[in-house]
Amino acid sequence: MDLFEAIKNRRTTNTAFADKKVSDEHKELLVKMASHSPSHFNSQPWRFILTEDQKIIKSIAKIAGDSMVTLMDDGRFWKQYRKYFRFSEEEMEKTKDGIHIDHLPVFLKPFAKSIFSEAGGKIISKFKVSRILGNDEEKLVATSPLIFTILLTKDEYKKEELSGFYSVISMGAVIQTLWLCTTAIGMGMQFISTPGEIPENWKAISDMLKVPEEYEMMAIFRMGYTDPDMKRPSIDWKSSQRKSVSELAFKDQFGKTFGSK
Ligand SMILES: Cc1cc2nc3c(=O)[nH]c(=O)nc-3n(C[C@H](O)[C@H](O)[C@H](O)COP(=O)(O)O)c2cc1C
Repeated sequence: MDLFEAIKNRRTTNTAFADKKVSDEHKELLVKMASHSPSHFNSQPWRFILTEDQKIIKSIAKIAGDSMVTLMDDGRFWKQYRKYFRFSEEEMEKTKDGIHIDHLPVFLKPFAKSIFSEAGGKIISKFKVSRILGNDEEKLVATSPLIFTILLTKDEYKKEELSGFYSVISMGAVIQTLWLCTTAIGMGMQFISTPGEIPENWKAISDMLKVPEEYEMMAIFRMGYTDPDMKRPSIDWKSSQRKSVSELAFKDQFGKTFGSK
């Protein structure tokens, strides 16, 4: 696939993956390509764990689903993320950012805006919205053929030092490399970030993966081959809009027009 096509086609995969193991060739290719990413002083501060063990994947799935329920039930999720939610194409066109919650069970549609508001607690509990989202999350992770985890060495990832900042930037480069490569070979990936917001859940996964003391578990993704016929989760979103070149960039100094549109 042409590089520009891969960049434009790359998307978060919100649906289940095809029921097919990721080939050894593709797993090795992903790690090899990731290894070509830039890092500060070529420190390569990352390590990767590729998990296919069904028992471990199911345990991670349970933690991911439970984390979603906890974050929603205690109101943290909405409080933190409400500003990113949009409910119509018009809203997306206006802001050109955030995620459009465009797919809901029929019985929830009339309440869309109120569920996704700070005052939506009653509706969330009446319709068990957190359970719906938690179950979806658990199912998506449990059925994924591959869980790809990124660690950073604590030698570099020191939160108070510049190397901490640089190693996180370096990890960002790895993530984009992985994302583009999966796109190029018919695979997809999705962040599993909810357990990261509950320290004890993150630690439980880190322990399960036997991450040594000298490494910090930084990011977890589910991966697999994409299948366009997969049904969308009960509550789902899309977010392909992007701001225009002239909104994003400036000529010479901030505020001075750059680009034609
Ligand atoms: C740091 C970070 C954390 C993210 N966490 C999640 C997540 O927990 N679940 C999810 O489905 N997507 C997650 N995403 C994906 C973004 O929602 C997605 O990249 C954005 O909406 C743009 O959509 P696209 O990837 O399809 O272009 C995350 C992305 C980043 C960079």
